[in-house]
Amino acid sequence: MTEATIEAYYLEDRTFPPPDDFRKQALASDDSLYKEAEADWQGFWAHQARELLTWFDDFESVLEWDLPFAKWFQDGTLNVSYNCVDRHVEAGRGDKVAYYWEGEPGDTREVTYADLLDEVSRFANVLKSLGVQRGDRVAIYMPMIPELPVAMLACARIGAPHSVVFGGFSADALRGRIIDAEAKVLITADGGWRRGAAVPLKVNADDALEGTETIEHVVVVRRTEEDVPFTEGRDRWWHELMQEADADCAPERMGAEDLLYLLYTSGTTAKPKGIMHTTGGYLTHVAFTHKYVFDLHPDTDVYWCAADIGWVTGHSYIVYGPLANGATSVIYEGSPDTPGKDRLWAIAEKYGVTILYTAPTAIRTFMKWGTEFPESHDLSKLRLLGSVGEPINPEAWVWYWQHIGGGRCPVVDTWWQTETGGIMISPLPGVTTLKPGSATFPLPAIGAEVVDDNGNKVERGGGYLTLTRPWPGMLRGIYGDPERYKETYWSRFEGRYFAGDGCKIDDDGYFWLLGRVDDVMNISGHRVSTTEVESSLVDDSRVAEAAVVGAKDETTGQAIIAYVTVRGNVEATDGLGEELRESVAKKIGKFGRPKTIIFTDDLPKTRSGKIMRRLLKDVAEGRDLGDTTTLADPAVVDEIKRRAEQSPQED
Ligand code: PRX
Repeated sequence: MTEATIEAYYLEDRTFPPPDDFRKQALASDDSLYKEAEADWQGFWAHQARELLTWFDDFESVLEWDLPFAKWFQDGTLNVSYNCVDRHVEAGRGDKVAYYWEGEPGDTREVTYADLLDEVSRFANVLKSLGVQRGDRVAIYMPMIPELPVAMLACARIGAPHSVVFGGFSADALRGRIIDAEAKVLITADGGWRRGAAVPLKVNADDALEGTETIEHVVVVRRTEEDVPFTEGRDRWWHELMQEADADCAPERMGAEDLLYLLYTSGTTAKPKGIMHTTGGYLTHVAFTHKYVFDLHPDTDVYWCAADIGWVTGHSYIVYGPLANGATSVIYEGSPDTPGKDRLWAIAEKYGVTILYTAPTAIRTFMKWGTEFPESHDLSKLRLLGSVGEPINPEAWVWYWQHIGGGRCPVVDTWWQTETGGIMISPLPGVTTLKPGSATFPLPAIGAEVVDDNGNKVERGGGYLTLTRPWPGMLRGIYGDPERYKETYWSRFEGRYFAGDGCKIDDDGYFWLLGRVDDVMNISGHRVSTTEVESSLVDDSRVAEAAVVGAKDETTGQAIIAYVTVRGNVEATDGLGEELRESVAKKIGKFGRPKTIIFTDDLPKTRSGKIMRRLLKDVAEGRDLGDTTTLADPAVVDEIKRRAEQSPQED
C-alpha cells in the first residue's frame, strides 16, 4: 500500500466513542478485562476457559510454550459438540433457536438446540457406521445449509477432525485438500443455490475423487433435487442414513490439544497449507471473542455473520463461537442480490437481526448499489456492526455506520487470520473509541506489536505486524509440515509470530492494518496466493512465464492481474487470454480467476532474475483495466520497459 493511501485513511478523522445507551447495557464497559489480562494473561485465559466452557476434566496446566509449539489446557478434557449443543439443552434451552436458516429460493428452517442435538447425534452415529473413528479426517464440501454445521459438530462429537472446503473451490482444489488430509469420508450435497442456479457440488466432488485413494464413502445431502451421478456402494444419501441412525451418541472425551479441524489456506507457495486447530484453546478463544467483541446478549440478540462457513470466519463465528455461547444466529444460503439487491436487508428485517458481521467488499458493493435498498427495510433492531477480512476504508466504514447502522451502532473492525483462529485486534464496542478504518487495539491478553525490517519494535509509525505471545486459538501447525510452520510464521523475527500484514500505529496508539506484505492477495476477503495463480497459468504449455500481482480495486479490495509471456510460436490473442482465465478458475475456483491478463514479450527482472512485481503492480494500478479484456497493449508494454530501465537494481 502506498503512502498516499495510508494518508488518505487519516482524512476521516472523526472519532466515535461508545454511545451512552450502548455502553450502559454492554458486557464490557470499562477497562477491567484489559487490566485483568495485563496482571496475568495466562491466568486470564484459564479463567475464561473455565467460565465459558464445560470441561469433563478440569486442567492444571494452562500453557506449555516451547516456541513455536503451544499446548493450552493440555490435561483438560472436553467435547466441542457437547459445549455447543448438549449443555444448552441440559440447561433447559432446547427450544431456543440456534439457527434461522433461509435458502436462496426462499425456503426456511428453524433449527433449535434440541433439533441440533438430535441431528448431530444421529449424524455422529452415521459417521461411525461408515467406519469413521476418532482421529480420522472427514472432508466436507457443502452449500450453506443446516446440514453443514451438523456435519462439523458430528465430527467434533466423535473426535474426527473435519476439513471443510469452501463450495466455491474447484474440483482440483478439493482433490488436493483431500489428498493432503488423507480424508476417509467426504460429505457433500447434490448442489446448492447461488444466483438462481444450482452449483454442481456432487459433479465437482466426483471429479475431485478421481485420483484420490483414501475416500471410502461419500454422503450426499439432497438440496437442489437435481439428478446427480451416484456410485453404488461408495455414495450414500444423507436422508436415508439419518432415518436409520440412532439419536443417542455419547460425546467423546477429547483432550484439549486434540485436533478439531484442518482448514486449508493459501500461502506464498502454490501448495495450500492445512492449518491445524485444536479443541480447548480454540473454543475458549472463539467463545470469548464472540461474547465480548459482539457484546452478545444470548437471550435477546439475533446475530448474523454473513460469511460462508467454508472460510475461517464461518467456522469461528457462525458455528463454534455462537453455539458455544448459546446464541441465536441467521444463516443464509445464497447471493445478496437474489432475487433483489435488498435480500440481506429483507432477511435482517424479517428475523430482527441485532448484530451483523460482514466484509468490506460486501459493504462497498452495497454502497455501489445505493441506499434505496437498505432504506426499503426496517433495520432499527440493529445495534452492532462488524467488519472482517481486509482493511476497511474509512468511506465504507462511515457508510456502513450511517446507512446500515442508522448512525447508532458501533462498528467493530476485527483483524485476524485463519491461523489465529479467532479475533485478535478489535475494539470492544462498549469500551473503545472508534476511528473509521482502524481495528483499534489488541484484545485483552493479546500481544501485538509492529516492528521494522530488523525486528525492532516501532512505537509509532509503520512496519510489520507481529504477535508477541501465544494465544489459545493459535494454529498448532501446518498439517504434515512442521518445518513450513516454523519457517512461515516464526523465522522472520525472532520470538515473534509474523502475520504477513503491514501495520501502522498512529499517535494515539491505534493499529491501522495496511494489507499483506507477502505474495498473498486478498480478493473480496478471500486469500489467494500469487504463486498459486502463476503456477496454474504456466501449467498451460503455451505459456512461457507468468507474473501475478494484486492491484488495488474499488470493490474487491484487490484484483488479480496476470502478466503473461507466451512461447515463441504461440500467438497472444484475446481467445487465449480467455482460455487461461478459465483454466485458472477451474484449477482454483472462480474467485481465483484473473481479472485481466496482459500479454507482454518480457517480464521486467532484477539482475538476479527476480520479477519486479512492485513495478508490475504500479503499472496495473495506474490504469483502468477491463474486466474480461485481455490486452496485448503496446502502451503497457512500453511503460514496463521504460520503468524497468529507470528503476534501481534492488537485488
Ligand atoms: O491481511 C489480513 C486480512 O486478511 C488476512 C487473513 O485472511 P484469512 O486467513 O483468509 O482470514 C480472513 C478472515 C479472518 C490477514 O492477514 N484481514 C483480515 N481481517 C482484517 C484484515 N486486514 C485488515 N483489517 C481487518 N479487519
